[in-house]
Amino acid sequence: MARAGKKAFNRADDDVGNILAMEHVNVTVPDQNLATYFYVNGLGFTRDPYIDFGPFNVWINVGNQQFHMPTNDPQVLRGHVGVVVPDLDQLEARLSRVATRLKDTAFAYRRQGSTIRVTCPWGNQIHCHGPGGFGEMTLGIPYIEFTVPRGTAAGIARFYQRVFDCSTVVKKTRCEVDVGRGQSLRFRETGRVGAYDGHHIAIYVVNFSRPHDFLKDHGLITEESDAHQYRFQTIIDPDSGEALFDVEHEVRSLHHPMYERHLVNRNAEQSFFNYHHGRDAFVP
Ligand SMILES: [Fe+2]
Repeated sequence: MARAGKKAFNRADDDVGNILAMEHVNVTVPDQNLATYFYVNGLGFTRDPYIDFGPFNVWINVGNQQFHMPTNDPQVLRGHVGVVVPDLDQLEARLSRVATRLKDTAFAYRRQGSTIRVTCPWGNQIHCHGPGGFGEMTLGIPYIEFTVPRGTAAGIARFYQRVFDCSTVVKKTRCEVDVGRGQSLRFRETGRVGAYDGHHIAIYVVNFSRPHDFLKDHGLITEESDAHQYRFQTIIDPDSGEALFDVEHEVRSLHHPMYERHLVNRNAEQSFFNYHHGRDAFVP
């Protein structure tokens, strides 16, 4: 018989819903050179060395997550992407070095307390945080925050609860959806939500068929990609069926060949002028 412990634990604190991970954000860009300069030289991330699309697409590794950027007219996520970087001071220095070359674009950054808010050359908002606020993460994408129409946050939370078995927190005009171990999807109501331009996110789910059943029953599947992936775009209130917000989700099963793919990350502080043997790789 187990001895009664002295401390009371809330075992639900460690529950994980059906979405195990948010793996990538996909926004098209018109200029691969400029995108690579911004994400690699400016933000300090790493170009995926293995999946190389040449001038047609670039995958950028950020810890265990990625940005995917096929070549096309620029897409802008409605909201912002939260990233964790190893050192905010080093990030600020890198951003100041790329500013001149990006001066004729939408590129901008400003430090606000413990965050650096960065705008990509085409207007995507990236909020960079130092380590400490997102568990053990020192490099990665811990959350995405979408700006959504007024009156939709509670219904969006119901959607992820009902369809994906996620824990959610609703606070007035915001909701937060727990993803896996320390990630989240956030939704914040605002009066101004622009038109949806087709950008997407990719998630991995433990139970692949149950969300599919719901989405198919409601006519929401937009693509049956292959045996291990489907897509949907519209988030609805499961109570009323009302369409609340559009953002395409690439839904992947744990049998998808890229699940838990090892992503290469470099130490962004290495340079010709400041080189240390043995420190090329990023160490979490
Ligand atoms: Fe994708």
